[in-house]
Amino acid sequence: MNTDLLTGTRAVRKRLDLHRPVDDRDIRECLEIAVHAPSGSNRQPWRFVVVRDAELKQRIGEYYRKGFAANLSGRTPRPDQLADLASGQYLADHLGEVPVLILVCSLGRPPAEPSALRLAGFYGSVYPAVWNLQLALSARGLGSTLTTAHLTYEREVAELLGIPFEEATQVAMLPVAHLLPGGHKPVRRVPAAEITGWDGWQTPGDGGAAS
Ligand SMILES: Cc1cc2nc3c(=O)[nH]c(=O)nc-3n(C[C@H](O)[C@H](O)[C@H](O)COP(=O)(O)O)c2cc1C
Repeated sequence: MNTDLLTGTRAVRKRLDLHRPVDDRDIRECLEIAVHAPSGSNRQPWRFVVVRDAELKQRIGEYYRKGFAANLSGRTPRPDQLADLASGQYLADHLGEVPVLILVCSLGRPPAEPSALRLAGFYGSVYPAVWNLQLALSARGLGSTLTTAHLTYEREVAELLGIPFEEATQVAMLPVAHLLPGGHKPVRRVPAAEITGWDGWQTPGDGGAAS
């Protein structure tokens, strides 16, 4: 199995081609792949709204920009976060110009009395489909980023798109576009070996219970 797609797919922001249209057929095919993801009791609670209309995208983009700014306010970024912040800001400034926005929703509202089990069931039953969708897009040369910054304005975006707020929760939004030329920087991740305990929890740096 070629695992390059799994290890090489990453958030695309500055390399989104804002001018080249994305084919509806590609989006349809990717969504059909997304729905092969697992969900609790196979409930398949995911619902999708694909937005291509320029005015709708522009209005969602305004909510996204405000949400992104609110999320940043009062935070002092570490030096190693500055490049990510710049690319995040670029996306916030251009989200409304991205050819396609895909809103991913889950039927129901988050549990009113959250427990680890209920929260895992609610969000964990839709995020695998989000990642399936990103991988399927990536396999077609389409870039995306999992975003949530607009959720501060979830109700306003629900009204805009006719999403029944009490019946469906927006969990993520993917801006989708063809890739501009240029290379990917490698994905930065802590190796699994450093964060995996075998037969028990491993405190970072103690070498683990087994090798
Ligand atoms: C739950 C979640 C919420 C996220 N929200 C945002 C967001 O609102 N805006 C954004 O630009 N990226 C967002 N991201 C993308 C992460 O910043 C990105 O996946 C992470 O920094 C890894 O970057 P890489 O894929 O380039 O390696 C989110 C990712 C997750 C999993």
